[in-house]
Amino acid sequence: MHTAKAREVIDVCGDLAACTEEPGFTTRTFLSEPMREVHSRLRGWMQRIGMSTSIDPAGNLRGVYDGATPAAPRLFIGSHLDTVPHAGRFDGVLGVVAGIALIDLLAGRRFPFSIEVVGFSEEEGVRFGVPFIGSRALAGTFDETLLRRPDPAGRTVREAILDYGLDPTLVEQAVAPEASVGYLEIHIEQGPVLDVLGLPLGVVETIAGQTRANVRFAGAANHAGTTPMEGRHDALAGAAAWILEVERLAKSTPGLVATVGRIDVEPGASNAVPGSCLASLDVRHADDWARRAAVDRLKARAEEIAAARGLLAACDVMLDQAATPMDGPLTGILAQAVERSGAFVHRMASGAGHDAMVLAERLPTAMLFLRSPGGLSHHPDEAVLESDVAAAIGAGMEFFEGLARSRSWPTS
Ligand code: GLV
Ligand code: MN
Ligand code: MN
Repeated sequence: MHTAKAREVIDVCGDLAACTEEPGFTTRTFLSEPMREVHSRLRGWMQRIGMSTSIDPAGNLRGVYDGATPAAPRLFIGSHLDTVPHAGRFDGVLGVVAGIALIDLLAGRRFPFSIEVVGFSEEEGVRFGVPFIGSRALAGTFDETLLRRPDPAGRTVREAILDYGLDPTLVEQAVAPEASVGYLEIHIEQGPVLDVLGLPLGVVETIAGQTRANVRFAGAANHAGTTPMEGRHDALAGAAAWILEVERLAKSTPGLVATVGRIDVEPGASNAVPGSCLASLDVRHADDWARRAAVDRLKARAEEIAAARGLLAACDVMLDQAATPMDGPLTGILAQAVERSGAFVHRMASGAGHDAMVLAERLPTAMLFLRSPGGLSHHPDEAVLESDVAAAIGAGMEFFEGLARSRSWPTS
């Protein structure tokens, strides 16, 4: 069942991976030119299957498939269209493409709810350091301070929206009506759990909380050849000592993962003592208390290490996203749909962050995972199995049926 549609979904994801800012890799950030091409291709498909499409003021691609009646409340299905640098083909994109494929398979059949497929403009936090720009607009949590945030080139979110031909003063128009049915996200697991269990699908029960921060170590730049080792204030050496502390704390704390994924060193010459080093910090745990305690500890260690080396350390927390449970009733409908489609129901937690954790602040939210072969993600070799995509499509179709049966609906 659904093998041909699964192949089409995989092929479309492969084609979209060529829309990139970096030839030879897939790198696509908030409202970049390659995003325009992705929007144009997916819009074309949506329009061919009878959806009305738009790009909202936060740069989200939106396609509406009407319900059986004008009063039909709305179900949202979506994921993100931006990527990490050197990404794979499926993180985010698969959920948008699978959503459109589900509408395509309906072949004009209507439900007592309308269905809106959303391709979020930004989830990864790559360009501006803060994630979920697109989904915050739908959730009604997009604030003014976000508009003022600059990218490394100094262009703000507001300017990026203007550059794309959109109006940042209208972002609040993107918000999802509170009376909507809910939000469903289909996404690759990005970890090893389903692969190890030999299962195609997972039903997410909760998404781990995350902190994202930048820690700046400030020292004194000087000539690498003439400055004696004694008395140097090497910002990168301080950051390096702290990065090992980050790893040590995560390894010794059950359930904690912590990552420094990026450093920016100034002046950044092989023959200059580093005067400044900015290190990113990503900390995750299913328990918010444990995560926040770890962040506090790491901030304190940064200051201690800096003080011992004559440096200054300053921490800028950009995101403190609480662990987010999925909606019980909507997740129940999803679990039943997985069962009716013939797949085993495995309930699990998500270690990765998703737009679903932002939408959950406004709408009942459920998430379906597909196995990630080898547990590989945020990597060019990220993969899916065709049979797993077919299973997800089967579960998605059953989800529509189950949702339609789950309550009485407005009739006009
Ligand atoms: C999203 O990809 C995340 O960083 O969890
Ligand atoms: Mn990702
Ligand atoms: Mn993702």
